[in-house]
Amino acid sequence: MSDMVPVDYLVIGSGIAGLSFAIKMAQRFPDRKVLIATKADARESNTKYAQGGVATVMDFGKDSYKKHIQDTLEAGDGLCNHKIVEMVVRQGPERIRELIGWGVRFDSDSTGNPHLGMEGGHSVHRVLHHKDTTGSEIENVLLDRAGSLPNIVLWRHHFALDLIMEESACQGAYLYDQLAKTIEVIGARATFLATGGIGRIYGHTTNPPIATGDGIAMAHRAGALVRDMEFVQFHPTAFFHPTTGQSFLISEAVRGFGAHLRNTTGHRFLLDHDQRGELAPRDVVSRSIAFELMASGQSHVFLDCTHLDTDAFKSHFPTIHRKCLDHNIPIDRDWIPVVPAAHYLCGGIAVDGLGRTSIANLFACGECSRTGLHGANRLASNSLLEALVYAHNTYTCLSSHPLGPPPKKIPGRRYKNRSVPVDPSLIEQHVHDLQTLMRNKVGIVRDTTNLQKAARQLQTHRDKVSGLLSRSAVDPSLYELGNMIDVAQLIVSQSLQRKENKGGYYNVDHAEHPTALK
Ligand code: FAD
Ligand code: SIN
Repeated sequence: MSDMVPVDYLVIGSGIAGLSFAIKMAQRFPDRKVLIATKADARESNTKYAQGGVATVMDFGKDSYKKHIQDTLEAGDGLCNHKIVEMVVRQGPERIRELIGWGVRFDSDSTGNPHLGMEGGHSVHRVLHHKDTTGSEIENVLLDRAGSLPNIVLWRHHFALDLIMEESACQGAYLYDQLAKTIEVIGARATFLATGGIGRIYGHTTNPPIATGDGIAMAHRAGALVRDMEFVQFHPTAFFHPTTGQSFLISEAVRGFGAHLRNTTGHRFLLDHDQRGELAPRDVVSRSIAFELMASGQSHVFLDCTHLDTDAFKSHFPTIHRKCLDHNIPIDRDWIPVVPAAHYLCGGIAVDGLGRTSIANLFACGECSRTGLHGANRLASNSLLEALVYAHNTYTCLSSHPLGPPPKKIPGRRYKNRSVPVDPSLIEQHVHDLQTLMRNKVGIVRDTTNLQKAARQLQTHRDKVSGLLSRSAVDPSLYELGNMIDVAQLIVSQSLQRKENKGGYYNVDHAEHPTALK
């Protein structure tokens, strides 16, 4: 274990949340040092894969803050924090102007105005986008900008193991350098968790492999308040593969463009469940598909784009068009096979309006945080917006206070350098079992008996993995497994505490009748 490395700000994660916060702090305080640690290569993140875009009021003729607020509240099914929704929505245009100022290019129409997409739950077109690769555009621009600032240091392949806690305050984190295989002790005046989502605990997900809930698990272990974990959002239209694993997303904007969902008989079944059809909020669409599949015994439904203008489709969704062709689906002739997949966590580390967690000196932002914006179900394309707004709010908070004291000298007592490596196939087997359990017992449609069984099985996993962690050499895959189990336990225990169905949480034992949507 190395000596302590002191920094002013430690940022864990290099997606939209971590990068936008780091850039703001570094620009404002050129004499302060910002360290960004990220466990994979710098671009790998949920951000990189975002397709639909960023929801913001831009067309004040047809749209208004009031409408965006109303749509967000409605999608959140009564559990959003009204004040937070209002704050985020009203700040949106300013944050977007800033992003454009940094170089992000959003598509415009023939008159030069922003081209605004439509997605489920939105009452008007309001989603700014860059074709169907909005996240990649944002990630590239932010990484370039961060790279141009001399007081930002970015450590790739550095895995955050745990937060350093002294006297109930966060003093930094232990990082594992995956190339040098050493542990770095980082002492920070403020630590900013921006570690993203949790999709991998379900296996079948739109998320990349980094989405293992590490930040949430670390914060929970340190004693931070974690809330709303039962609200896992399943995206209705992931490309169907007969095997499980990371699944390519067919953006909701494709339904906003006019695509229809059909079952194997060709019936547009969504209209039987909700008059808003394909553009109902995401939880309603995913649940309707789940019911349809349970009733039919089929493995997937279809997205029909055959009636749409193919040239316009290609121009708006070039990546989706190409991906479908790679799987021998010409979208002008064949329907796209789709199935819901784990996509987004509405809950996470509880923060206030400034991104402060319940632990001193610890902030959280982006998908790992729970702000109150999403309530029980996130409105499409509100996530990138939330990360931008909260990165700004924490930056404002930290800029307006004097810099805190430097961390005390931290004893390197936590990690003994054990040499016994853990068998990778054992970790793989545990991950596979966990994912199967979560899909089968803690999916879109839950019931109390299965949740209780899941709780017991997860405890058995937890005990075995704790044993492995205590006697093996430090191994990020083993840490990820431990973190995924922690997060799964939080999802199950908070599901069992919820006594009524709301948004993305649906328990048949609380439903009016077995196929009721509520
Ligand atoms: P991420 O972008 O996921 O970044 C997390 C970072 O933390 C990564 O760099 C990761 O490597 C790092 N990290 C994690 N654990 C550790 C650790 N232990 N140590 C060190 N580093 C760690 N939202 C929208 O608003 N609009 C969209 O159109 C949209 N489309 C989406 C499409 C897809 C396919 C997916 C998966 C998500 C989409 N979302 C969309 C959601 C949105 O992209 C994410 O919620 C958002 O990008 C999260 O940003 P973040 O910075 O919080 O986390
Ligand atoms: C999508 O493009 O369908 C994803 C949008 C989102 O997750 O907000």
